[in-house]
Amino acid sequence: MPVILAIESSCDDTSVAITSDSGILAHVGRSQLIHEHFGGVVPELASREHLAQLLPLTRQALKIAGISAHRIDAFAVTAGPGLPGALMVGTSFAKSLSLVFQKPLIAVHHMHAHIMAHFIDPPKPEFPLLCLTVSGGHTQLVYLKDPFDLAVIGQTRDDAAGEAFDKGARMLGMTYPGGPQIDAWAQRGDPHFLNLPSAKVPGLDFSFSGLKTSLRLALEKGTAHHPDFIEVHRADLCASLQYAIVDMLIQKLRSAAQLYPCTDIALAGGVAANSGLQQAARLQCSELGSRLHLPKLAYCTDNAAMIAQTALYYHQKGQFAGQDLVAKPRWPLSADGLRFFT
Ligand code: KG4
Ligand code: ZN
Repeated sequence: MPVILAIESSCDDTSVAITSDSGILAHVGRSQLIHEHFGGVVPELASREHLAQLLPLTRQALKIAGISAHRIDAFAVTAGPGLPGALMVGTSFAKSLSLVFQKPLIAVHHMHAHIMAHFIDPPKPEFPLLCLTVSGGHTQLVYLKDPFDLAVIGQTRDDAAGEAFDKGARMLGMTYPGGPQIDAWAQRGDPHFLNLPSAKVPGLDFSFSGLKTSLRLALEKGTAHHPDFIEVHRADLCASLQYAIVDMLIQKLRSAAQLYPCTDIALAGGVAANSGLQQAARLQCSELGSRLHLPKLAYCTDNAAMIAQTALYYHQKGQFAGQDLVAKPRWPLSADGLRFFT
């Protein structure tokens, strides 16, 4: 099996990983804290940070792996979807490495990689696999018959689940990203303090934008009566928001599992780290009689280990990109779409 060096820079995490047949040899990364007070990722700042971090992280990864760059058999990079500037930094860097060391280039689909993160460590899922991928930019239900034969069977019509967490957190005066903070506060709160009705969306699609409005109205009403409403009820508000988001996700996951029978179900993406979602998914899967796969925390949020793992499959198929590789900020996930760069 080849030694692959992979780069992830699609949003606000810069990460480099090196993988071989003996598993992950090195995995390093930096989360960009610079966006904390802007309420979301500032694309220009993200690109600059990636540019500053990629070379030192690559050197660090090679040092940890104890190999020289000449030992790398292929360079892999997230080619999309993601922020255009951030993707351009990563793809330009990977193209340079591939050119200098005369080794093939592999263009990886970020959302495909979130799913393939489950194949880094055992127990690996079996196919057919149903995966709920929930991140800051996407909310998708994906049905896979094998690693490349996949279809998106449901997705969000507006905000992503992570966005719903982050926007809600912002209304509650929290810094970006708010998801993990909501999760922590929610553990101590009453999930039924507020009834935040979720939109009724037919089929397997999701919608979260109505939640934002319901929360805003509830906060306006609460603070009109009591100026410290948010402070006093922070834990209950977080628990109610989390309950509403998780409820929508689990309802659709259940419907998908009934329509697309499979023994294995997985959660992927940053929001998969949410303790409420994990707990509800465990319960749901035990009712369905399905095996649930939760990625390790380090492989939930954006990371290069999942890019390296996916690249191993692309390498096996002989699916390489050329020096004409152009980042694809909007790259829909589909079986045909994964052949885009060949
Ligand atoms: O997959 P990811 O790292 O980046 C994207 O590709 O978007 O996901 C980031 C998202 C953010 O919205 C963040 O708030 C959310 O994942 N997140 C969480 C938790 N940890 C991260 N949301 C809820 N609970 C968590 N524990
Ligand atoms: Zn992601």
